Amino acid sequence: MKLVVINGSPRKHANTAQLCEMAVKGAESLGASGEVLNLYDAPFRGCISCFGCHLNTSAERYDCFYKDALTPILEKSLEADALIIGSPVYYGNVTGAVRSYMERLLFPLDTYHFDEHGNREVKRRKVVPTAFIYTMNATEEQLTHYKMDQTLKSNEGVMHGIFGVKCEHLYSCDTMQWEDYSRYYNNMFDPQHKKEHHDSQFPIDLQNAYELGARLISAAQAIQ
Ligand SMILES: Cc1cc2nc3c(=O)[nH]c(=O)nc-3n(C[C@H](O)[C@H](O)[C@H](O)COP(=O)(O)O)c2cc1C
Repeated sequence: MKLVVINGSPRKHANTAQLCEMAVKGAESLGASGEVLNLYDAPFRGCISCFGCHLNTSAERYDCFYKDALTPILEKSLEADALIIGSPVYYGNVTGAVRSYMERLLFPLDTYHFDEHGNREVKRRKVVPTAFIYTMNATEEQLTHYKMDQTLKSNEGVMHGIFGVKCEHLYSCDTMQWEDYSRYYNNMFDPQHKKEHHDSQFPIDLQNAYELGARLISAAQAIQ
């Protein structure tokens, strides 16, 4: 059993990355292996609309035809028994890199073809439990008030359709963006509040990430 966790933050040791690492530890607690893959290590593009994956002759192809530095990350994602995508919220959605990764991962598994029941066919080799870990400046109240959660839920809906089981989410809200707020042009965020919130809430978020990693592996074990 293997859990693959995508860190879709450009920062390799910040909020998202730490939660991703904890999810791996949760998977390992059940004897599974786990790996965090840093998207920003790979210079890559989103889908280039070549449609190689949608050719009549591509029914048995699950991989993106366009090959670049993302290819090994896509290969590992496709082999995973459970998959988590970690992303900071950028302008109300996942980061651009996560979006591009999703295009390249999902489009080869998707089709423009209905089955005999009128359902869209998916080239699914196995059902894979999936989840998003989102980190953001927004509080939980702002997340719902500005309906950002609706946008994020639509990402989860797409993952559910492709991987065959409900996609979970973990929100880590009101994160500490900087160690030293005094260096930055800011009067929107109160540094003291950020520190206090970080010290009290982030350990809980880390624990939730640990449990998420373990839960997805349990779900994957139950499927097999
Ligand atoms: C380009 C950019 C856009 C952002 N947009 C949002 C946003 O729309 N909503 C929000 O709550 N936070 C936003 N943030 C804040 C980040 O989501 C937040 O600091 C996150 O925890 C950063 O993750 P990291 O620490 O793993 O890098 C933005 C940050 C950046 C750099």
